[in-house]
Amino acid sequence: KEWTREERYKKLSDYSDNYLDELAKRVAQSPFRQNYHIQPNTGLLNDPNGFTYFDGKWHLFYQWFPMGAVHGLKHWFHLTSTDLVQWNEEGVALLPDTEYDSHGVYSGSGFVKDGQLHIMYTGNVRTEKWERVPNQIVARMEEDGSFTKFLPPAIAGNPAGYTDHFRDPKVWEQHGIYYAVIGAQRSDETGTILLYRSVDAVEWELMGEVDAGLPDFGYMWECPDLFEIDGKTVLLFSPQGIEPEGDRYHNIFQTGYVIADDFRLDELKLAHDGFRELDAGFDFYATQTAESPDGRRILTAWMGLPDVAYPTDSEDWAHCLTLPRELSVKEGKLIQQPVRELVALRKEKSVSEAGLLAGEKRIERNGGNCYELQLDLAFPTSDKHAPVTLDLCADAANDKRFRITLDPSTNKITIDRSRCGIPFAQSYGTTRTLAVGQMDTVKLQIFVDTSSIEIFVNDGEGTFTSRVFPQAGENGLSLVAGSTVDYSLALWELA
Ligand code: FRU
Repeated sequence: KEWTREERYKKLSDYSDNYLDELAKRVAQSPFRQNYHIQPNTGLLNDPNGFTYFDGKWHLFYQWFPMGAVHGLKHWFHLTSTDLVQWNEEGVALLPDTEYDSHGVYSGSGFVKDGQLHIMYTGNVRTEKWERVPNQIVARMEEDGSFTKFLPPAIAGNPAGYTDHFRDPKVWEQHGIYYAVIGAQRSDETGTILLYRSVDAVEWELMGEVDAGLPDFGYMWECPDLFEIDGKTVLLFSPQGIEPEGDRYHNIFQTGYVIADDFRLDELKLAHDGFRELDAGFDFYATQTAESPDGRRILTAWMGLPDVAYPTDSEDWAHCLTLPRELSVKEGKLIQQPVRELVALRKEKSVSEAGLLAGEKRIERNGGNCYELQLDLAFPTSDKHAPVTLDLCADAANDKRFRITLDPSTNKITIDRSRCGIPFAQSYGTTRTLAVGQMDTVKLQIFVDTSSIEIFVNDGEGTFTSRVFPQAGENGLSLVAGSTVDYSLALWELA
């Protein structure tokens, strides 16, 4: 179905009451519905927004177009959780219902002020001539869960020297001052990030550009985030317009980071040793982090990308969020690990074996594609070793499969989606490769849900996040070692 502009911007209130119910019933029939990931009941999900721990609960919102799998009029959908595992759907929270956000409640973040949850987001407006006007708006959650928008906007329009691509405020508080980083495009059409400051979160003052020493790095930087871990400053963002380079930057758009040893907010200069992609998989974008009460920095992301068609589009729903991950910094790199709360998903351990393997090992299982798998490999200390492959989502003939290849001669790990389930996004390539430090030993922790695979390499040294759409009977597992390898494999069925 082609969506006209009129259809994309039709108001929720212009639909009959049971329209969404009927749509949700139809979507629920999809064979690709996830079991333990946040996904929309109808329509399209994109960025995680407003991720905040407040008053004993996690609050997480996502960008939502309710009516179909297209980027139309965006709302915020609200979820809460006490454990980052079970999420309660609170329903639609922010609607595009004012003249300052008439064409979409775009991305933003949450912060706590005066004991109340606050939000700062981008109100997207299109004029009659379809010119874009971005407004940065602050809102407050009231006792009854409703939101009060403070209007006129905190920042109306785009500042001089920058285009109308100005969005996605990420707010934090430091020593009683509120700061916000906002994604921007310079007038010369290069991407950057602006830093603002406020004493009351009402009046905002532009401090300037965050100088990350990347003057010509793509045409727009979306979803910036700036935070400290272990005394280092991390600037995380999603640049658009980066060309592929070796094994890097093969997705349509990237998400990555730079790390500074010491960043002074007043100097704005962020010295680092280069931009690094955060995830090596096919579907990862628009991250957002939050701090937990025990001081952990937790990240989630959109498990999807703009401008890419997905197999569920024809079912009128698309995308999900990644699992929450705990961040840390090790040797100048960001490490991502699944949050420890996720062990609560484990049911029975249905595979547990170890030994020496040379040749093929097929693991038959009855369960569907909903499990956690841990594979530890150690290559014996002799000369040459052949690659090891692990196939997931395999059919009986191993003709259809998602293949992970570990090559100790190059220290590279490659994932191959070319023969997995329903093919899609093939024009962006069907493999992705990550180089690791060494491969004498390697550890994979893999979360498979009905239509996604998240791979954590060596306790988070690298990750691969991907959507997959396997069909009936494509749930097998096979491990093949080209030469002898010491392995141990454990698998938990997940709830
Ligand atoms: C990123 C993004 C943001 C914007 C939102 C709109 O995916 O383009 O920059 O605020 O999505 O849905």
